[in-house]
Amino acid sequence: MGEPLVVCEELKRDYGGYAALKGVSFSVARGEFAAVMGPSGCGKSTLLSILGLLDRPSSGRYALAGVDAAALDDAERTRLRRETIGFVFQAYNLLPRLSARDNVALPMAYAGVPPHERRDRAEALLERVGLSAKARRTPLELSGGERQRVGIARALANRPALLLADEPTGNLDSASSRDVIAFLRTLHAEGMTILLVTHDPGVGSAAQRILRLKDGLLE
Ligand SMILES: Nc1ncnc2c1ncn2[C@@H]1O[C@H](COP(=O)(O)OP(=O)(O)OP(=O)(O)O)[C@@H](O)[C@H]1O
Ligand SMILES: [Mg+2]
Repeated sequence: MGEPLVVCEELKRDYGGYAALKGVSFSVARGEFAAVMGPSGCGKSTLLSILGLLDRPSSGRYALAGVDAAALDDAERTRLRRETIGFVFQAYNLLPRLSARDNVALPMAYAGVPPHERRDRAEALLERVGLSAKARRTPLELSGGERQRVGIARALANRPALLLADEPTGNLDSASSRDVIAFLRTLHAEGMTILLVTHDPGVGSAAQRILRLKDGLLE
């Protein structure tokens, strides 16, 4: 099926002389579920930010869906990110004054989806994560596990090809973590490509493949 969805070659990222990534090469095929694991400070979030087009490598190549990220200007990167990537954060990053439904609908607004369709799609996504009854609540009125399910619904808003998640269960208790992982496995079974970062071997074992990062290099 052509080029893999994600292709990284010799990615490096320096922060003012400190090498957080020292030459990372791997690819992720469409439909794969991979986990990045490794000790604190080894560069996991740095790598995910580059893959999420939130940051640029100091050198090396990153191609997403066959598009060389280095060739894009900021507006093109924003558009590729919006159309191709869903990002799930450890701390949810929901807007506190918006309802769950409006949080999920927000990325669709940026993508130019008409209001009634945004509402319908947001409600359908909240139903998928089991939160139909709580669609009008704001994040403060939801538990951590519920907030993360809203975060995942939001990440799916624009039907991304790639789901990226940085420690998506890092703030959750074990029961909520299991819910989140079960849902990610369902998405994977439906064909979603997933790359997540985790410290938790139980979470990592849900993935098909583990990429072990240490001191800015894959082992
Ligand atoms: N903006 C920055 N400026 C300078 N150094 C940074 C910056 N971001 C990260 N670093 C450094 O780069 C290294 C990798 O950081 P990164 O956040 O990628 O680690 P991580 O593997 O995600 O760790 P954790 O498991 O604790 O989240 C660390 O040494 C960190 O201090
Ligand atoms: Mg991190």
